[in-house]
Amino acid sequence: MLAPLLFVWPLSIVVTYHYAMSVAANPFDQSLREDALAISRQVHFVDGATQPVVSFSRSAHALLRADETDVVYYHVISSEGKLLHGDRELPAPIPMQKPTTPENQVGFRDAELGGEELRVAYTLVTSPDNPKDWVLVEVGESLEKRNQLINQIVASVILPQFFIVPVVVVLVWFGLAQGLRPLQFLQARIASRRENDLSPMTVRRLPEEIQPLVEAFNDLLDRMRDNLEVQQRFIADAAHQLKTPLTALKTQAQLAMYEDEPDALRGSLQRIGSSVDRASHLVSQLLTLARAESSGGEIQAEAKVDLAALVREVAEEWVLPAAQKHLELDFEAPAGGVPVFGNAFLLRELVSNLIDNAIRYTSGTEAAPGLIHVRVSDVHEAPHGAQNEDGAIIKRPSRWAVLEIEDTGVGLNEVQAELVFERFFRVDDAKTSGSGLGLPIVREIATYHHGEAVLIPNASGQGVTARVRLPLYVVAPAAPAMPYRPPIMPGSV
Ligand SMILES: Nc1ncnc2c1ncn2[C@@H]1O[C@H](COP(=O)(O)OP(=O)(O)OP(=O)(O)O)[C@@H](O)[C@H]1O
Ligand SMILES: [Mg+2]
Repeated sequence: MLAPLLFVWPLSIVVTYHYAMSVAANPFDQSLREDALAISRQVHFVDGATQPVVSFSRSAHALLRADETDVVYYHVISSEGKLLHGDRELPAPIPMQKPTTPENQVGFRDAELGGEELRVAYTLVTSPDNPKDWVLVEVGESLEKRNQLINQIVASVILPQFFIVPVVVVLVWFGLAQGLRPLQFLQARIASRRENDLSPMTVRRLPEEIQPLVEAFNDLLDRMRDNLEVQQRFIADAAHQLKTPLTALKTQAQLAMYEDEPDALRGSLQRIGSSVDRASHLVSQLLTLARAESSGGEIQAEAKVDLAALVREVAEEWVLPAAQKHLELDFEAPAGGVPVFGNAFLLRELVSNLIDNAIRYTSGTEAAPGLIHVRVSDVHEAPHGAQNEDGAIIKRPSRWAVLEIEDTGVGLNEVQAELVFERFFRVDDAKTSGSGLGLPIVREIATYHHGEAVLIPNASGQGVTARVRLPLYVVAPAAPAMPYRPPIMPGSV
């Protein structure tokens, strides 16, 4: 605040000076005007005379000159610029011309005499008989009195400021220091916090103005705390899940050490091998989940992807494992492909996890093989809006790419169909093996692509259908190939 104050101060001096000049000019101009009019009344045009008569007495002349501070000059000059009466020193106006001010009115001009500035009042006297006959009466005065008055005015305004401004500075300083103290207090409190302390800060004793700031900060802390809890639970769960195959590995290795029989040893090594498989599967699922999560909402490594082609490729890889379990895997998609916009690596993980589930949780025999239908299609819905948290209507995509994987397996009930999207949740942990991360990965990837993933128990009561909807990639008709980026949808999972 000091900088603007120091800028305003000189500005106020300049303004005061200009104001004082016009104030000081007024009374002195007035007295000059009266002098000019008084002399003009002494100018008479006499019939027949070539020049007007100026009856200005010596004593009047002396009176006019009797100024203690300033020098006063006067003269009467003819229209040709000839001096008729008065002081020769007072310079006549150049060029000499008839003033525009009417008779008995006084005009003013500035002049210079011997390097000194003069203020000159002039008036016009015209012959009553011949308007072409005129003379100019001028009274000039030096500016000493005016300058003294200006200085007095400026001093009387500026001098008190020498006391006022420092007092203002001190008061502002004091006021700001007091006003900012709560902020400093807040700063100290934040600075002294330990990094794992996410408890809310009290808003008591804080000025009303910064309470909303602290509340917003508390809100952030709250969300961070929730987030941290989720992360910590996840890490604890992950560690626990990893421990199981590792403990099994250790036991199997210890047992294997005491095996002498080559066949028994081979069996132990096989079990060790499958434990290693389980552990590495868990690790790769954890990595995929971390990768899907870390993208933070913006689709990276993005491209237009033909979902139909991608699903076909992944499905082909699973035909053999399916056949080994006596399952028929078929695939159906529109010939033109189904474009979506996204990350091909993640989408492949999504499809792979769903087909893996369908195969893992479906059984078949040679006589009655299990069936797995993989379908990709595009659906056009009537456009409709959805309300977000603030109550605003946002448009939802109305064109979707839909992937459905329908199996004839063990199936799930409706409650389980939602629970299985929780991390590490498995329906029948003892009977089948798996990490319980496949569906959370699927949902994470679908959400990341602004889509959604659900499991729907089949109407027939046997098996489930995994259904994933992703916004269809739409090229705007007029604009160059712009990816269609749907808004983040409320309630999408
Ligand atoms: N197609 C399905 N049919 C029946 N149950 C299913 C199906 N897909 C998933 N589930 C159930 O949901 C649970 C969670 O599945 P999820 O894919 O998340 O983990 P997982 O298959 O056990 O392990 P992972 O996929 O990480 O190897 C499974 O344990 C299973 O009980
Ligand atoms: Mg799975």
